[in-house]
Amino acid sequence: MTKVLGSKETFLEADHDTAMEFLNTVSDITGAEEYQRLKEFTHHRSTTRYQHCLNVAWYTFIWCKAAGLNYKSAARGAMLHDFYLYDSNDELFRGSGLVHNLHHPRVALENAKKLFAVDEVMEDCILYHMFPVGEGKPKTQEGYVVTVADKYCASLEWGSGKAAKIVPVLKDIRDYLKDELS
Ligand SMILES: [Fe+2]
Ligand SMILES: [Fe+2]
Repeated sequence: MTKVLGSKETFLEADHDTAMEFLNTVSDITGAEEYQRLKEFTHHRSTTRYQHCLNVAWYTFIWCKAAGLNYKSAARGAMLHDFYLYDSNDELFRGSGLVHNLHHPRVALENAKKLFAVDEVMEDCILYHMFPVGEGKPKTQEGYVVTVADKYCASLEWGSGKAAKIVPVLKDIRDYLKDELS
C-alpha cells in the first residue's frame, strides 16, 4: 500500500467512490496531450510538474469536499495551477525567482484557457496560488485551499525524495482500482 507522507488519508486508502470521482473530475485534463508534457519537467527537485499538480489537486479535492466547497472546480484549478511549459531554470528566469513567481500563474491561466473551460473558481485557484507572493490574494475559499495544498505538497516534495509520488500516477491508480473492484 502506498503511504502518503504527512497524510492520514492516501489516494489508495480513500474509498473507491472518492478516488473515482477525483479521476472523473480531472481525467480530461490529464489526458490532454499538451498537459502530458508536464511530465518532462522536474519540479521541486524530487518530482515532476505533472505529479506535483496531481498531488496538489488531490489534497485540494478532499479538503474542499470535506469543507463543503466547490471541490470539483477547485481540483481542476489545482491541476492547472502550474500548467506552464518551460523550465524555471531557463535563462530567462535564472537568478530571478521573483520574476518566475510573479509570471507563471498568468502563463498557466493562459494555457489552461486555450484547452479547457475555466470558471471563476478555477481562475482564482490558478492566478493566486502563489499567495502571499504574486499579484494578489485569492477571492474564494477554494483559492485559499489551493495556496495551502500547494505549499504543503511543495514542502514534502522539497523535503524528501520519498515524497516524489505523494499520489501515484493515474495509470497506477486505475490499475489498482481495477484489481480492487474486480
Ligand atoms: Fe506555482
Ligand atoms: Fe505548485
